[in-house]
Amino acid sequence: MRLRSIVCVQKVTLVITMVCLSLLIVDRVSFGEERRIDALFLELDKKYRIPEQWTILPFELEDPYKRIKNGPPLVNIIHKAKVEWISRWIANPKGVVPNAKMPDLGLDFEEIKAVIVYLASIAEKEVPQVSWDDFLLKKEEELSDDEYDKMDKVYNNGKGVWGRARCTICHPIKGLGGNVGVGPDLGEITTKVSRNWLYDWLSNTKNHFPDTMMAQYRFNDADVRGIVEFVLRDTQFIPEEKEEEEEGADKPPVPEVQVLTEKEFSNIRRDNALVEKGRDVIEKARCFVCHDIKGIPELMPVVEKKRDGITGFEKLLYEIRCLTCHRIQDKGGTYAPNLTIAGSKIKMGWEREFLQSPDIIRPLSQQMPKFNLTEDESKIATEYIEKNLVTKEALPDIYKEGAPSPEIIAAGEKVFYEKGCNTCHSESITKGGGVVGPNLSTVGDRLQPAYILYHLQNPQQVNPQAVEPNFGLSEDELKQLVGFLVDHVQKKEGK
Ligand code: HEC
Ligand code: HEC
Ligand code: HEC
Ligand code: HEC
Repeated sequence: MRLRSIVCVQKVTLVITMVCLSLLIVDRVSFGEERRIDALFLELDKKYRIPEQWTILPFELEDPYKRIKNGPPLVNIIHKAKVEWISRWIANPKGVVPNAKMPDLGLDFEEIKAVIVYLASIAEKEVPQVSWDDFLLKKEEELSDDEYDKMDKVYNNGKGVWGRARCTICHPIKGLGGNVGVGPDLGEITTKVSRNWLYDWLSNTKNHFPDTMMAQYRFNDADVRGIVEFVLRDTQFIPEEKEEEEEGADKPPVPEVQVLTEKEFSNIRRDNALVEKGRDVIEKARCFVCHDIKGIPELMPVVEKKRDGITGFEKLLYEIRCLTCHRIQDKGGTYAPNLTIAGSKIKMGWEREFLQSPDIIRPLSQQMPKFNLTEDESKIATEYIEKNLVTKEALPDIYKEGAPSPEIIAAGEKVFYEKGCNTCHSESITKGGGVVGPNLSTVGDRLQPAYILYHLQNPQQVNPQAVEPNFGLSEDELKQLVGFLVDHVQKKEGK
């Protein structure tokens, strides 16, 4: 309801803007002169016009890439990160996390101390305490053999969950991975966060950062405990030992920054003069442009997004953050396949299973994480996609009336190899083939026949950047190829 009325308001505003703009234009040119259309008008027009081929969706999509504040809220930072970490971070963000987005604001040590004391003064709630088995709180060298085995079991379970969750498609680790381009490097995360915070973050990211671009997985308690153990113990999340001088002889040495220790902090944290100074520094450094910081007056009012009460696919989009990776119409990321017309492309039976337990379609590059969607959630998603994410006009399905004949299939196979489709695709497990494009051995289960035809007519009409060349196939070749490909289904018996 609310969203629809926003759309209406937008439309009204747009109409008013257009009318005013055209009045302005008319006002400036006298009759007889050639009328030139204002560039601003054209831009606005382009921005608001819904392209003809898009369906109108039942709610407005939220673009995770257009959040108001790109930095996390700082209200509880003192419970999230260690004081020493915060101090090094403010002094030199990129020196702490290689892909940091926050600029170095040039604060000196005295200012940084005051800022941290101020941030501690606004903290609201402690991170909930989780009860951990005693042995999990010990260092590895302190564990008895028996305890080590028990810990190792939790760790290995976590390693599996971590792998299926594909955390590294968003997060680089020591500079490697992170192809989606949004998550912080986790290579030294053990120097930053505590066990309890990590547990709470993975259980409910949105409690900490409502606008986060990170997906909220459907983990159970054991999954989260496993990942926590894996992240806190695996060496990839621990800083590398610093090499001796000779290694980086040709590079200028990294300037050491002075670090606020836990001990010094506990001596100064109740100092009211420092709290005042810290607030003043934060105001001057304009930290609030990127962060929500309690107690700092805003220059610009922030419109709070209301997410209470959202349901169905809208809720799923928000929680799982599908649009951090996928794009629908003009919203979202470009890492994963565009879903704007997924309902005209994908077979819904396949999709329902895929969403619950994704397998690998494109072996080389992208893979969808396992979010553990429930059967119900998966149904909600497929029903929405089938109904709303479709082409304006139905695509023609040449095999609607009956399956392709063996002759057609054989002719299609010939075309497939003559055109060299196998340089990029494999169409069977036994014959091999390229891995640039998706494996097509069960493409008949995955894609709607009409879409395969539409794709082959011109791969660039769906995705202008598609690497698959347009072969300019004839009607016959198209029919044969589509026949050949729709026959690629997982055979229930035999084989
Ligand atoms: C131009 C935007 C910008 C400004 C200005 C800015 N920050 Fe940040 N800050 C960020 C972003 C983005 C992050 C998230 C990490 C990253 O950089 O990728 C961040 C992260 C942080 C973190 C770690 C938060 C966490 O939950 O891990 C702290 C602490 C912080 N900033 C403090 C400050 C302080 C103090 C100031 C002002 C002196 C400030 N920031 C100014 C953008 C900014
Ligand atoms: C869709 C991309 C995405 C995926 C997948 C993802 N994350 Fe994140 N994660 C983020 C982003 C982005 C942030 C930073 C908060 C923000 O800017 O929204 C983040 C923050 C974090 C943080 C806090 C880091 C810090 O320095 O504050 C941890 C820890 C973390 N993620 C762990 C994980 C784990 C473990 C997984 C896999 C189970 C995972 N993430 C999967 C995007 C992702
Ligand atoms: C962390 C990034 C990420 C997130 C978040 C994500 N996906 Fe995906 N998704 C992918 C990738 C990558 C693929 C391609 C998988 C492959 O080719 O093997 C994919 C594939 C798909 C496909 C098949 C598309 C096709 O054309 O083959 C569908 C449908 C899909 N995702 C739906 C969703 C939905 C619905 C959500 C939210 C509930 C979601 N995804 C969240 C990364 C993501
Ligand atoms: C130069 C490499 C290349 C060649 C040659 C090629 N393709 Fe593709 N094809 C791709 C890539 C890459 C994709 C994946 C597009 C995507 O993920 O959005 C693709 C996608 C497809 C799809 C599935 C579309 C989807 O989104 O799942 C089909 C069907 C297909 N190709 C059939 C063929 C046929 C038939 C031929 C020969 C006439 C062919 N391809 C030749 C690279 C190629």
